[in-house]
Amino acid sequence: MTPGLALDFTQASRARVYNFFLGGKSWTEVDRETAQAVIRTSPDAPAVARENFKFAGRAAAWAVAEFGIRQVFDIGVGIVDDVPLDSVETCVHHVNPDAMVLAFDHDEVVLTHARALRPGYGAGFGGVLRGDVTDLDTIFDNPGLRHPDLAGRIDLSRPAVVVLAAVLHFVDDPAAVMAGLRERLAPGSVVVLSHATSSHIGEDRVGGMTAAYERGSSSIIFREEEAIAALADGWDLLPPGLTDVQLWSPDGTYQQEVYETVRVVGMAAVLPQAPGSEEVPHAALAS
Ligand SMILES: C[S@@+](CC[C@H](N)C(=O)[O-])C[C@H]1O[C@@H](n2cnc3c(N)ncnc32)[C@H](O)[C@@H]1O
Repeated sequence: MTPGLALDFTQASRARVYNFFLGGKSWTEVDRETAQAVIRTSPDAPAVARENFKFAGRAAAWAVAEFGIRQVFDIGVGIVDDVPLDSVETCVHHVNPDAMVLAFDHDEVVLTHARALRPGYGAGFGGVLRGDVTDLDTIFDNPGLRHPDLAGRIDLSRPAVVVLAAVLHFVDDPAAVMAGLRERLAPGSVVVLSHATSSHIGEDRVGGMTAAYERGSSSIIFREEEAIAALADGWDLLPPGLTDVQLWSPDGTYQQEVYETVRVVGMAAVLPQAPGSEEVPHAALAS
């Protein structure tokens, strides 16, 4: 098991910086400095962060309802409990109160905040489980999944929704994560993914945001839209495909302002049956 990130208040935490953007209260001075350096370069960063947060909840809830899925793995959940927006868990429970939503993060900061902000949550198995998306054993073989409270509620032979919202831009090899998910998840599983992109954003802004994270002893990798779209290789892309998170909805009705100072794109994709096995058609598949 990977050890995760230790509690450290001298360096910016990606989770706390993001919490600042979202209007939460779980950040320190060093996080605020990093966030404000990002905002100086890209003033729309907080608005896009909020739209990314809403995208994750909207897309996960849609997938749960559309595909009748009852288990959700929210990987890289961040600090959500003091954020004035509906989390993935809340959105999913609006459409299916019985769905099991499990949250994972590799940052001790997130685990500590989850324990402090919702002490009663999850009874014995904990509000957020320690898991690193670059080592999927820590997610899918997490000992927390064997807690008696979860008995019968997690079944990896059945489809799951996996949420990777604004997490793969912190990972060196996101294609390896997607390949690992294809190996582990049942056909019919849905991945909901968002990622910061360098496409159609000035180089100076991308450079400025990257430098702001680096000064805070953190890092972020902006990728071209083409590279992000390629993460869906081996999956069937669902409508509307890869779009700005402000424009993502299967029926095209969700439309918010898109900015030129910072872009996060999102998509949902379903894992098809292995070649040669019986195909399960679904009306929602993108043509
Ligand atoms: C920008 S926040 C996004 C939070 C939430 N997913 C959202 O979109 O609203 C990124 C989160 O991913 C977590 N993270 C970064 N790298 C990770 C990794 N390798 N494994 C698990 N979590 C990771 C960070 O700790 C942070 O909480």
